[in-house]
Amino acid sequence: MRPRSRFALVAAAALLVSGAFGVAGQSGELPVVVPSLPPRDGSIRNPITFDQLHNFTGPSADGQCLHLDLGGAAFQGAVYAGPYPFCEGASDYDHAAFLLSGTLTNGATDVPAAAFLQDAYNANAWPQGTGSEPPTMTVAYRIDLRSVSGDTVTSYGLYDSLVSFRQEGPSVAKNLTLVEGPYLALVTSDDPPSAAIAWTTDLPATGEVRLRGPLQEDSGESARAREGVCDRLFSQEAPSQWHEIRITGLKPGRTYTYRVSSVAQDGQSAHSSEYAFRAAPARGKGKVRFLFTSDGREGVGGGGQTSMGTNLDVSGRIAREAMRQGADLAVVPGDLVNGYTSSIPDYRLQHGGWKGAWSGFWRTRPVYTSPGNHEALLNVFDDGSAYGLEMDKWPYASESAEAIFQQEFCNPANGPAPSDPRRPPYLETVYSFTYGPILFIALNNNYWWTSDADIPTLGGSPEGYIMEDQLAWAEGAIERGDRSPDVRFIVVFFHEPAFPVGPFSEKGLWWNGDNTVKAYALVGGQVVPQGQGVIDVRNRLWTAFARSRKVAAVLVGHQHAYSRVLIDKHTPVGIPSADDLNGDGKLERYSPNPDFTYPVYQITAGNGGAPPYVYPNRGTPWTAQVISPETGYCIFETDGNSLGFTAYSLNGQILDQVKDLMAVKKK
Ligand SMILES: [Fe+2]
Repeated sequence: MRPRSRFALVAAAALLVSGAFGVAGQSGELPVVVPSLPPRDGSIRNPITFDQLHNFTGPSADGQCLHLDLGGAAFQGAVYAGPYPFCEGASDYDHAAFLLSGTLTNGATDVPAAAFLQDAYNANAWPQGTGSEPPTMTVAYRIDLRSVSGDTVTSYGLYDSLVSFRQEGPSVAKNLTLVEGPYLALVTSDDPPSAAIAWTTDLPATGEVRLRGPLQEDSGESARAREGVCDRLFSQEAPSQWHEIRITGLKPGRTYTYRVSSVAQDGQSAHSSEYAFRAAPARGKGKVRFLFTSDGREGVGGGGQTSMGTNLDVSGRIAREAMRQGADLAVVPGDLVNGYTSSIPDYRLQHGGWKGAWSGFWRTRPVYTSPGNHEALLNVFDDGSAYGLEMDKWPYASESAEAIFQQEFCNPANGPAPSDPRRPPYLETVYSFTYGPILFIALNNNYWWTSDADIPTLGGSPEGYIMEDQLAWAEGAIERGDRSPDVRFIVVFFHEPAFPVGPFSEKGLWWNGDNTVKAYALVGGQVVPQGQGVIDVRNRLWTAFARSRKVAAVLVGHQHAYSRVLIDKHTPVGIPSADDLNGDGKLERYSPNPDFTYPVYQITAGNGGAPPYVYPNRGTPWTAQVISPETGYCIFETDGNSLGFTAYSLNGQILDQVKDLMAVKKK
């Protein structure tokens, strides 16, 4: 949730709609009215793009560094650099250690490279390396970026990235670089023999994954030490910057290693380290631990709290906790970044920062994401208000928040198709997968957003709302999980709470009990309502959860605290047909819902980096059992028979614990 001063409703009244379909040739294909207002920028976080952050123009004058030019004379700052990954092969978690510092002056700096071949700094035994393969020599660099204009100094926080280099005679030269990833993805018990490896190169290049294994796990052998294991190559020959290669033939639950390589058209090549990972367990089987966190967007406090749109400090620490706690996977439902931007390059750079914070974990364990309200990517119009009139960016197929989120992540692609093909895709923002005995269902209740007050006039879907097509898909997914003998537990995750606890409780699937809130679409020249009111939608969704004996927990974020609330058929939740006493669509009282057959926990972990809420339990008919504003995360664990969890603060304190989430269903 970003703090917003709600701008006045005059925005809608002031709109001039040009004909029934707005701007000719554009909105005729859109399910929204295009306002006849001048476009303006949204909240663009970053003053530089990915391309500027990687604009290496050649060696430095002395040939020992790589010259980086951000392209703006006003940019000043500090620069830090170190060999990456630090102590390759000895550390099981890829990370940087910054060993040298310098300055960014008038937008330019020299990033040290040859210095890391000197004994004191050479953590990876370059140039020969520590493994059996020649290493790619890569430097992690960090810019603490400021701009200076007259007496005004603006601090933009930390920018982290990577650059590879090679030796050319007495000088160094920039090399093809794996700038993001590799990330392990699509490890699911729906298809244990398969997984995907994804990475990004700074230049178009081919891609190849070398897979080795399975290893004998109890012999203590490493991939490098053992000979004779299966060794397979999976290739992508068409050059591109984005690489996503499916690997197959894995045996459930067994350990493999992989290493990726790319070759650019001019022959430059780059390789990753070698990483060990475990194939997904067979469906219905296995012990599983997973980490749940949300709202890793920027905090307050400077330094790593503000890094490209994400809270690098907190997300980085939670990712390390996920590794040390032995999590097999992580689920993160939204507000990864500040967002609300009108710039696609800015949106991508922000998500690149978040992925970088998780990269040490993500090399070897999958991370599943869904969008929050901050994952907004917008067309913004100047209506005189502070934020402007904001609408999900079109064309939807290529530029919407949903489309770019799908490109930035590698989530399962088995969600619903929109019932109206003019709307944005649900692909990879709404999906399900199994991991061992758990069925995970990811929903997106920040879909196709328009500034909320303008939705009845222009079309769009309010914060927190779930449209009929996604709702029906979710009901079907729960039913299928309920019938499947391999599914022991169902865990649902989405961003905005069904039952908010605390400030900003006006949104989510609650809207302070206002059942008039719903989506609208432009149909046949008229903007018309779509589907049921938000309270009826919430009640249908929760009824689907509560009728199943298998739904262990509903995991949400948005509110920047930890909380646990148990919803059962005695909880005052509100039923529009019974509680709208004066017929205005808003609830005057809050009846319990007899259709909520089994109790279900809603667990909020929006305490993952965004500024904490310290006054969370007020203003709603239901009351949380436990609340804490401490920054932290949750670890869930099943041995196949029961599923429980512990909520930790980042200081190691246990904030809450439920050893058996299913016990409440037996009472
Ligand atoms: Fe949020």
